[in-house]
Amino acid sequence: MKDADCVAFLQWALPQLGLHWPGFRKVRRQVCRRIAARLRALGLADAAAYRGHLQSHSGEWPALAALCTVTISRFYRDREVFDCLGAAVLPALAAAALERGAARLECWSAGCASGEEPYTLAIQWRMALAARFPGLALHVLGTDVDEALLERARAACYRSSSVEALPAAWREQAFERRGRLLCLREAFRAGVELERQDLAARLPQRQFDLTLCRNLAFTYFGAALARRALEHLASRLRPGGALVIGVHENLPSFDSFVPWPDCRAVFRRSTAPS
Ligand SMILES: C[S@@+](CC[C@H](N)C(=O)[O-])C[C@H]1O[C@@H](n2cnc3c(N)ncnc32)[C@H](O)[C@@H]1O
Repeated sequence: MKDADCVAFLQWALPQLGLHWPGFRKVRRQVCRRIAARLRALGLADAAAYRGHLQSHSGEWPALAALCTVTISRFYRDREVFDCLGAAVLPALAAAALERGAARLECWSAGCASGEEPYTLAIQWRMALAARFPGLALHVLGTDVDEALLERARAACYRSSSVEALPAAWREQAFERRGRLLCLREAFRAGVELERQDLAARLPQRQFDLTLCRNLAFTYFGAALARRALEHLASRLRPGGALVIGVHENLPSFDSFVPWPDCRAVFRRSTAPS
C-alpha cells in the first residue's frame, strides 16, 4: 500500500475510533504494515476497498482498532524521568505511604506494552530504594489492551537493545542471558502483576500512589477520549499521588494536577477530581 493511501485512510478512520491522527504521523509505518496485511487477509485490493468494507461491516472496526496500537517501548525510557522518580518522587510517595501505615506502594503502568515500564520500576525500587524503606513493598500493576504484548511481558525476555538504557549494574543483576535474549530474574518480577485492560473502557479497582500513562492516551487518543482517560487516571490516584506522562505529551486539563517541582512530565494530584 502506498504511504499516501495509508495516510488518507488513517486520517479518515482514526477519528472514528476516537484516535488522533497527528499522534500516528511519525510512527505510521508499523500501523500501515498491519493494515496492508489485513487487506491481503480479507482479499481486498486497496485502502479504498477497505474503507468500503468497513462501511458495510461494522464488526470490522474492532479489528481495525487492534491494528492501530503503537507498541514501541524500552526499559528506562526517557532517562531523566526515571532519574527524577528515583531521586524525588518515589522517596516522597514512599515516605507518605509509611506515614499512613501502608505496607505497599501501589503503582500502575497503563499501556505497559511488553512489561518494560513496570519492570523498570520494579528494578529501580529493588536496586535503589527498597533498603531505605524497610517494611514497604512496591507493587506494580501493568495493564495493556493487547494480550499478545502481555504474553511477552509474562515471558520477560528481551533483546539487549531494549535494556541498554538501564544503569549497567542494575542490568547485570536483574537479567540473565538465555541465548540471544536477556531474561528478567524471578526476584525482580515479584510485585509486578499484568492484566489485560482497555484504558478507555475499564478501570482497576484500587487506588494508586503512582500512575504512569506515557505515550498512549495523550499522544494517540482524540481530545474527548484523552480527557476521559485523564478523569479515569485521576479517579484512581490518591490525593498527593503522582501521574507521569510522556515527555512529549501535554495534559488535556490541569484541574486536578500541579507539576511536580523540577521533574519533567510528572504531576501531583492536588484535589479530588471533579
Ligand atoms: C507506545 S506504547 C507505550 C509503552 C510505555 N508506556 C512506554 O511509554 O514505553 C503504547 C501502549 O499502549 C497500549 N494501548 C493502546 N491503546 C490502549 C488502550 N485503549 N488501553 C490500554 N492500552 C492501550 C498499546 O498496546 C501499547 O502497548
